[in-house]
Amino acid sequence: MNNIIWSNGHKVKFEDIIDADNCYLFDSKGNRLTDLESGVWCTSVGHNNKRINQVICAQINKISHTGFCYCHPQLETTAGKLLAITGIHRGKCEFLCSGSEAVEYGMRLSRAVSNRPLALAFSDAYFGAYGDAAAKDGQRWHIFNRLECSCSKPDEGCVGECQEFAKIPFDDIGFFVFEPGSSSGLVRFPSTRLISKIVTRLQKQGGFVFCNEITTGMGRTGKWFGFQHYDLIPAMVAVGKGLGNGYPVSAVIAADSVLDRLEKTPFVFAQSHQNDPLGAVIANEVIDLIEHDKLLDACRQIGQYLLSRLASLAGPESPLKAVRGRGLMLALIFENQASVIFEKLIEKGFILNKRPQIEVLRLDPPLTITKEIADQFLTALEEVFKEVTL
Ligand SMILES: Cc1ncc(COP(=O)(O)O)c(C=O)c1O
Repeated sequence: MNNIIWSNGHKVKFEDIIDADNCYLFDSKGNRLTDLESGVWCTSVGHNNKRINQVICAQINKISHTGFCYCHPQLETTAGKLLAITGIHRGKCEFLCSGSEAVEYGMRLSRAVSNRPLALAFSDAYFGAYGDAAAKDGQRWHIFNRLECSCSKPDEGCVGECQEFAKIPFDDIGFFVFEPGSSSGLVRFPSTRLISKIVTRLQKQGGFVFCNEITTGMGRTGKWFGFQHYDLIPAMVAVGKGLGNGYPVSAVIAADSVLDRLEKTPFVFAQSHQNDPLGAVIANEVIDLIEHDKLLDACRQIGQYLLSRLASLAGPESPLKAVRGRGLMLALIFENQASVIFEKLIEKGFILNKRPQIEVLRLDPPLTITKEIADQFLTALEEVFKEVTL
């Protein structure tokens, strides 16, 4: 470990992890851990998935990386599938590596075609590690705090009937970057009323919606994409994380309505691993696997099971005060014991996600989590609750 920089601010808590199977991780001493975070929300179809491994091996025995000037038939196939599952029937797709990169690419493309100075986003949205979106500066952004307005409803936030909403300068806004469920924030899902109001206003003056589906995509919320819980078709979608099941591939899907505008505006974005066949092959297999194994249904069912079992553990006498979630994107809300419960769960071998200073534990397991694994976690959680005093 002496040779590695850990610049993400997280402390390494475990022995070296050397093997895995679906939700389970195995350390160098043979201990088993249960990963209920899918790495960093990436292993949508489980760690060490044999079908994914097979296509990786087959492809790397042919070609992994091509270059700017070559195509590969798999790119067309996977792009076609992404267009179909996003519902953007007339459009195109570009493959990249990380979520940050896909969001940044989408942002630059949006800026290139937008004829208005501002972009709209919610204050609890996270867009990536760098670039335009990460900066969210006031010159180019209108940041709307939907969680602290006068019409805010519990768990929904703003419903679009307040002064703050009325102040959104729609005439200056070219596009709305919509993360349909604040994953890096507090796992809150914006109200359908608010989103309809924004989309209607935006589209009336020629604006468009760019959905950031890095976390909420690829079945995480029980539909292919988080925006599909709302009444809208985006002009652009960024997908990452679960698309590669742990392999770094992301994609931007853009409708012709956006791309047509580029004919008048030069747009160049070049990096080494653009439209690489290996990433596209993996993404293709992830999509097929989610479809073939009916993992969207499984996600909804097991998500609902977890949500209702967790809700039954919550209450005034319990350290757990509330739960919320959509599909397999769940948040456990505590008053002041999230850290101690998080540590005790780790001692029992269960990995959730905890952010500093926030009394929330997040749960984003692979869509392939079984009821047996869910029950093992619930049993461990009940044991932990008995150990902590209120
Ligand atoms: C909503 C959202 N967008 C973008 C990103 C950036 O993705 P990546 O870390 O793969 O660059 C993340 C990462 O957590 C995210 O949650």
